[in-house]
Amino acid sequence: MDPIEHLRQDYRSGTLDTEDLAGTPLHTARRWLDEAVAAGLPEPTAVTLATVDEDGLPDARVVLLRGLDDDGLVWFTNRSSAKGAQLAATPTAAVVAYWPALERQIRFRGPVELLEDAACDAYFAARPRGSQLGAWASQQSRPVPDRAALEARVEEVAVRFGDGSVPRPPYWGGYRMTPRQVELWQGRPSRLHDRLRCTRQDGGWVIQRLQP
Ligand SMILES: Cc1cc2nc3c(=O)[nH]c(=O)nc-3n(C[C@H](O)[C@H](O)[C@H](O)COP(=O)(O)O)c2cc1C
Repeated sequence: MDPIEHLRQDYRSGTLDTEDLAGTPLHTARRWLDEAVAAGLPEPTAVTLATVDEDGLPDARVVLLRGLDDDGLVWFTNRSSAKGAQLAATPTAAVVAYWPALERQIRFRGPVELLEDAACDAYFAARPRGSQLGAWASQQSRPVPDRAALEARVEEVAVRFGDGSVPRPPYWGGYRMTPRQVELWQGRPSRLHDRLRCTRQDGGWVIQRLQP
């Protein structure tokens, strides 16, 4: 028998009920994110972003959330990457955050749009120079012969920009998801977890408790 079959943990650190939802579900999501940051968890803003490719095959990868408020979720990437091509063809996504130490998961689903240029420029300008050069050097998701080829490309780009400022590459920017659905999940003992699914309807949110 595979030893991972026996790994088992009971979740007991919290509970979740409708009265815990103050404001919109996005406010609660933001509070949970802030609590993950305050708890000092590693990479508290790392979330899994799922998209679909042109054959309808799902794809998923981790990105860092750079915004979460009533307007939705924001992340940044290379728009010519695999995820960028997938979002251009099918501008919808699912995002899931999981904070094991807090025994909490949040799932978001909804349409995705390009973030405005001004917000992309401001974020790119605030990135460390190494990341700015990396954005120019990396054709994200494309094959590269070896590590040396990538590093040579970074060197080339560094020479090109010299001591000057590094502008945002035209193919690099942000996305915003406006969630249609937000599900908050709090682990409970014996797998009888608390789940509240919040769905936008008529300008408000409908909240349903789901079976675990
Ligand atoms: C903790 C963590 C954070 C990451 N953050 C980002 C990010 O914010 N943006 C990004 O483009 N890739 C990020 N990545 C890399 C992606 O997971 C992925 O490898 C890359 O975006 C290429 O994905 P794609 O080929 O599906 O487009 C991160 C990976 C990890 C593990």
